[in-house]
Amino acid sequence: MKNLVILISGRGSNMEAIVRACAHEAWPARIAAVIANRPDAAGLAFAASHGIATAVVDHRQYPDRAAFDAALAQTIDGYAPDLVVLAGFMRVLTEGFVTHYSGRMLNIHPSLLPSFPGLKTHQQALDAGCRVHGATVHFVTPTLDHGPIVAQSGIPVRAGDDAAALAARVLKTEHVIYPRAVRWFVEGRLALDGGRVTLSPPEPQWLFLDDVNEAQAHNAGEGA
Ligand code: GAR
Repeated sequence: MKNLVILISGRGSNMEAIVRACAHEAWPARIAAVIANRPDAAGLAFAASHGIATAVVDHRQYPDRAAFDAALAQTIDGYAPDLVVLAGFMRVLTEGFVTHYSGRMLNIHPSLLPSFPGLKTHQQALDAGCRVHGATVHFVTPTLDHGPIVAQSGIPVRAGDDAAALAARVLKTEHVIYPRAVRWFVEGRLALDGGRVTLSPPEPQWLFLDDVNEAQAHNAGEGA
């Protein structure tokens, strides 16, 4: 039985997807805790209502990143995690913190990394004229939004899309690929080979969300 600790900053819809998949698919894992850096993180209520331990380590209570990360690590380690899952955890982490969880910390980022690290990824994709956009699950390394890629999802960018429309469609794919990636870790199927991830036995590490209707609408509307 593996212990998972999930870190959130807000809504927590990815956390919710992982909690539900863990229960419905009977993973050999338990969600040991959900930890937020904000006391008002909406996802805390969902976790508590599912009998999951919750904790808040409020970054505003600490003088600097190092002090916050030390307190956060202490709280996380109290739950003896096999895996730390960053699910909309909006903090830049110190190198010491990341190194402590090397090979056992995953993140999801709403872009097809290595394109568009940082914030406002959907607007960045629009501004760059991307025709495909998506999300990436990756092992966390000290470089922000960077690290060995476990899974990626793609969606077509349609005429008329704004950042909110893209965010909503990408989020749907996040809710599929993140639980899948965490399950692979729990099942001991992920191996790190330098900067690359191997999944054994193999299965598609990508998802493209584009149904026939979407494709027809796209082609008819844009002559693409
Ligand atoms: C998700 O779209 C996630 O990919 C993104 O924040 C959102 C959190 O939503 N994460 C990042 O931007 C991290 N760089 P959620 O709280 O509903 O899961």
